[in-house]
Amino acid sequence: MRITRREALLQCAALGSLSLAAPGLRLTDAVSAFELAEQSTAARAATQWNEIGPFYKRLAPNTSQLRAPNDPGLGLAVSGRVFNTRGQALTGAKIEIWQADHHGLYDLDGYRYRAALESDASGLYKFQSVMPGHYPARVCQHIHYVVTAPGHKALITQLYFATDPVFDGDPDKNYAKDPLVMSRELVRPVTLTGDPKTIQAAVNFDVVLEGL
Ligand SMILES: [Fe+2]
Repeated sequence: MRITRREALLQCAALGSLSLAAPGLRLTDAVSAFELAEQSTAARAATQWNEIGPFYKRLAPNTSQLRAPNDPGLGLAVSGRVFNTRGQALTGAKIEIWQADHHGLYDLDGYRYRAALESDASGLYKFQSVMPGHYPARVCQHIHYVVTAPGHKALITQLYFATDPVFDGDPDKNYAKDPLVMSRELVRPVTLTGDPKTIQAAVNFDVVLEGL
């Protein structure tokens, strides 16, 4: 049977491979603090706000499959985790997303390419979609987000793609070609998966919410 981290540290102390060199420090307190420090998570900067735009709709369905079987466009798998600024994963956060289809059209009558997801026990959310198309009112391809969780400020933002032709292959230099892209952090790298017949893009987008 595996022993706990705490038991292992106490065993180290008993066998002499861990020792205390501070007066008044008790072994049990020191080992508890050691264990806690190992479990602590790195602080994270809150995700940057970005415009909500005109096409948000309430009450989107809870579905992770946004792409219908014959929908045109490059398949896109988006996943990420929701954190607080202390770096702890947030379970049960609500992630509302909406985007244009491959042709740059939003569904204003129904709920195509719209969803309201919930983060799982490790803060994870994911959905299957297509790379959003460009549309005349906007320079860049993007997916809109509203993320909410109890005890945290609502985050309104957008996800952008480093492969967007607007960036000419160099988002570091060109991300501001879309005046609405005020943060380089929102432009995410793209990974291609599958084979040439089933090629699809994958993008990771972690989001970090500020506490109230
Ligand atoms: Fe939009």
